[in-house]
Amino acid sequence: GTLLVLNGPNLNLLGTREPGIYGSATLSDVEQVTTAAAEAVGFSITCLQSNHEGVLIDAIHAARGTAVGIIINAGAYTHTSVALRDAIASVEIPTVEVHISNVHKREEFRHHSYLSPVCSAVIVGAGVHGYALAVSALANSLA
Ligand code: DQA
Repeated sequence: GTLLVLNGPNLNLLGTREPGIYGSATLSDVEQVTTAAAEAVGFSITCLQSNHEGVLIDAIHAARGTAVGIIINAGAYTHTSVALRDAIASVEIPTVEVHISNVHKREEFRHHSYLSPVCSAVIVGAGVHGYALAVSALANSLA
């Protein structure tokens, strides 16, 4: 099966964006590590990054019939988007929410996620290794 890896706004800037918070790995590094983790347990990967909410929603809809699981770091849309939450709830594909930083140690507005109640697991604060943990969680639940 295929896992869809979605990264939201500003994550294209990983590596140079606030490295004290997000580290030095680039988006390309993240996608390579996630792909390797998935292939090691027999899954293939489709990766998409977008700064646009509607593009992420379209990708979630398109995952129906093509992906068996979704890994999503929705960036700041996590804290604002009822539309992304409704998209995840609509497709009924197991979805793992990832945040590189520990959002609970940060500003109050990052403590609430619209997505968590419709996700099967949430991985927060493990750095970019969180994406590999998300693969592991999905592989385990899909086995
Ligand atoms: C983030 C945390 C969000 O609060 C922030 O807006 C991001 C990245 C993370 O991976 O830690 O863009 O999702």
